[in-house]
Amino acid sequence: MKVTIFGTGYVGLVTGACLAEMGNHVVCVDIDDNKVGRLSRGEIPIFEPGLEPIVRRNHANGQLEFTTDAAQSIAHAQIIFIAVGTPPDEDGSADLQYVLSVARSIGQHLDRYAVIVNKSTVPVGTADRVREAVAAELSARGVEIDFDVASNPEFLKEGDAVEDCLRPDRIVMGSSSARAIALLRKLYAPFNRNHDRTVVMDVRSAELTKYAANAMLATKISFMNEIANIAERVGADVELVRQGIGSDPRIGYHFIYPGAGYGGSCFPKDVQALERTARTVGYDARLLGAVEAVNHDQKIKLFDFIQRYFNGDVRGRTIALWGLAFKPNTDDMREASSRRLIEALWEAGAKVRAFDPEAREETRRLYGERSDLVLCDSAYQTLDGADVLAIVTEWKAFRSPDFARIRAMLREPAIFDGRNLYEPSVVEEAGLAYYGIGRGRSVARPE
Ligand SMILES: NC(=O)c1ccc[n+]([C@@H]2O[C@H](COP(=O)([O-])OP(=O)(O)OC[C@H]3O[C@@H](n4cnc5c(N)ncnc54)[C@H](O)[C@@H]3O)[C@@H](O)[C@H]2O)c1
Repeated sequence: MKVTIFGTGYVGLVTGACLAEMGNHVVCVDIDDNKVGRLSRGEIPIFEPGLEPIVRRNHANGQLEFTTDAAQSIAHAQIIFIAVGTPPDEDGSADLQYVLSVARSIGQHLDRYAVIVNKSTVPVGTADRVREAVAAELSARGVEIDFDVASNPEFLKEGDAVEDCLRPDRIVMGSSSARAIALLRKLYAPFNRNHDRTVVMDVRSAELTKYAANAMLATKISFMNEIANIAERVGADVELVRQGIGSDPRIGYHFIYPGAGYGGSCFPKDVQALERTARTVGYDARLLGAVEAVNHDQKIKLFDFIQRYFNGDVRGRTIALWGLAFKPNTDDMREASSRRLIEALWEAGAKVRAFDPEAREETRRLYGERSDLVLCDSAYQTLDGADVLAIVTEWKAFRSPDFARIRAMLREPAIFDGRNLYEPSVVEEAGLAYYGIGRGRSVARPE
């Protein structure tokens, strides 16, 4: 099938590559010249496991094209996906300017029937706004062209995006048009060979499904962080509690890891946007507000620990940081907990030596060259001249370190583990003080 995708970010690029891999002819269009140029030269602007060979292969055989030419891209397709960003507006609601700008551009160039599919995460009612924007442009041109607008929210996870896209848990399609659903079913048929994963519904329900999924996952994390904060105060170990509750199949082990808060381009903005949507329809979504508030505080926890450890004064201290990306297997640093920690440390007069397997370039892009930030080539290099160590992202490479080596290199023997990667007794046997999230240990500097 002929498909066009607006936006070549994490969602658009992965979706385009996977659809091309299934034999479709996909055109990916972006307004970012630099990104399109890099992609056309075979460079992948993001780190996503398994993506590069699929993009290269399909670009080489002509099934995956990259362009900035919206007009030609629109003329190409039977199905046009909108996969542009929907960042938070000042008041927390989703900023739809990019989505609506694509809609206008589609209206300006559409020359025959197409299904316009919202893949971006958008508030309930956005499909109607897209339809109106397209229709207004068509009527300004004085033409009548039939089109449908559908919702097909994306559930891929950064770090597993290719796998999620090729083997989705579910494919949600929202539309009242049988023609649009038939086209989407045909497009997704190769992803459904094992069993049908399609869930067809009305547009509004599809739009809300995406927010409900992310809000539920964020709620699980904040809930567990709340339990961790109680555990810390009552002398319990939240990791044992986690295993104790996860064994109940109604609860399950997934997504109940306590830690230094969730980040990324989705959970924070989507929880806020859903809360905002609720408010605009006269409902006070108290649970969502609490999920957000718990997470906000959680992101500053490691800083509070470190500050407390140094009796309230980290001036002149150097903190080693393992992990910068908002989660492992990505270079994405949007809303990353590392940023709150780093910025708080700088503000308080400390320096940072950090290592991340993939996010170094992105960190440099965000913060530039500065004397209070040294980006190291390896985890152990961060310890050179550092006072204490903080773990911020749970990369596999950090899971089983040489604690004796850490002990020998740090000026002060302490690890602040924002992802509960280690068994406290193992760390302590190596002569290091250990502070995790909700591990029943209060922070105090060893005498
Ligand atoms: N990143 C994820 O894990 C994920 C998962 C599910 C859903 N989503 C949702 O998908 C959407 C896209 O997310 P992302 O992470 O891929 O965003 P992104 O910021 O990585 O990419 C968005 C791209 O859209 C481009 N763009 C903006 N305006 C454009 C226009 N008029 N025409 C063409 N391109 C344009 C930008 O240049 C950018 O390259 C968001 O709504 C997000 O909430 C993201």
